[in-house]
Amino acid sequence: PLYQKAHYLKSAPNLSHCPEDQGYEVAFAGRSNAGKSSALNVICSQKSLARTSKTPGRTQMINYFQLDEQRFLIDLPGYGFAKVNVNVKRVWEAGLSDYIEQRQALKGLVLMMDVRHPLQPLDVMMLDWCNELELPIHVLLTKADKLSRNQANQAWLQLNKHLQDKYPLASAQLFSSLNKQGLEQAWQKLDSWFDY
Ligand code: GTP
Ligand code: MG
Repeated sequence: PLYQKAHYLKSAPNLSHCPEDQGYEVAFAGRSNAGKSSALNVICSQKSLARTSKTPGRTQMINYFQLDEQRFLIDLPGYGFAKVNVNVKRVWEAGLSDYIEQRQALKGLVLMMDVRHPLQPLDVMMLDWCNELELPIHVLLTKADKLSRNQANQAWLQLNKHLQDKYPLASAQLFSSLNKQGLEQAWQKLDSWFDY
């Protein structure tokens, strides 16, 4: 019921434009096309809450969706965009790292990776950042429906092994926006971060 109440609040171009730093925020991040918007929409039981692809760099950084007075979901623009030049990438990284490093309300980061090719370089960068900041991270291995059950489980086990060694505050699960696999588990993780 909490997530069904999600509604768009505002987009902040950078940290200084974010709402007052209070309450609970959980941010969604991941490569472009990883299935971020689809996952957000399924988690909030809404068809088109999160808008489709925006141009990275030029886009507003931090998109706020409000759940209740104290709780917010944040949609961060997708990364891994090949066409963007180095300076735009730097600005994007600086804006993102400001938000992740300084935002007290940020309780956890949901990191989406396509189950068929997880742990791309920028995914690892996000894991490393959060690890240094001791910010909990939960990986959704998206599009699990694209693999057989056995293949998907293998991918999950392999990722877990990698996380266990290096990232003590990270967890991971399989997810599919198509058939809603993993939805309950994702809700549970969000509930725990939202102290709900
Ligand atoms: P950007 O906004 O560009 O960063 O992409 P995104 O990460 O928000 O991905 P989006 O949710 O727009 O999904 C990208 C494509 O993957 C779309 O064509 C979706 O229909 C498809 N897709 C997303 N989730 C799933 C899934 O769970 N299963 C399958 N089969 N396809 C999915
Ligand atoms: Mg999107």
